[in-house]
Amino acid sequence: MVAADPEAVNSSKLEDVGTENYSLKIFQSTLNLLAHILIGIVVGISILFAFRNGLPTNNMTNLHIVLCVIGYQLLMAEGILALCPYNSWTAGLRLVDKRRTHTILQILGSVLAIVGSILKSLDKSTNWNTLHGKFALVAMVFTTVSLVNGLTSLYAYELRKCVPGNFSKIPHIVFGVVAFVASLIALCYGFDYGFFKNWTANAGPPFGFAYAIMAMSAAFTFIIIVNPMITALNKTVRMCK
Ligand code: HEM
Repeated sequence: MVAADPEAVNSSKLEDVGTENYSLKIFQSTLNLLAHILIGIVVGISILFAFRNGLPTNNMTNLHIVLCVIGYQLLMAEGILALCPYNSWTAGLRLVDKRRTHTILQILGSVLAIVGSILKSLDKSTNWNTLHGKFALVAMVFTTVSLVNGLTSLYAYELRKCVPGNFSKIPHIVFGVVAFVASLIALCYGFDYGFFKNWTANAGPPFGFAYAIMAMSAAFTFIIIVNPMITALNKTVRMCK
């Protein structure tokens, strides 16, 4: 085995990375890592809660929590992150494979989230009468629109004669971000229910732990939507020029 010369390794690394952007890259990678950790905590705690009485299949509230949280906060979150240039697990993929990963995760996530939402609303006699339900409805509508819009974005090149690329891509990003933020608000109203707060208090942590989980959810949602919002803004500016 040939021992690497540390001087040479360091200098070549610096050339590769570009010194002026290096700090920004470290910052973005750190935020990316933080987002993954927070997703893990929030989704993990939600699943633990939904399984607190055994399998959630005989209780519609628990089942919808599993489907909606895995759909929105795990698969959709990772689907959006998959396209970020500094996302840890997709950074090495070619753009075409990042797009495929994004498409598969978004379709899977949307289907789980929509099925979870519909199952819970069928379980209720009066619908959309709570803020939790109202925001979940907004999330569901925008998810559906963004999903359809995503397909036209996927075939933007083939459809370029009838629809200019940015006409489907910019709304796709905007609708997706609105859906994701609405799902965060619905999630926080869900964590605000007394039976969840009591469970977190009984499980050990202090009562305010439910608010800490809401803050963690808001933090990872914010980190995740920054990149698509910048992309949408850049595309809009370029289109207007
Ligand atoms: C992103 C995650 C979530 C989504 C998208 C979601 C979606 C929904 C939907 C669509 C309904 C039916 C609303 C209606 O027909 O009026 C509902 C009801 C309900 N959800 Fe969730 N839910 C989520 C997370 C949670 C969590 C984490 C909890 C509790 C810890 C929870 C507890 C409830 C309860 C108790 C109801 C019945 C009362 C109500 O309608 O507000 N949900 N949810």
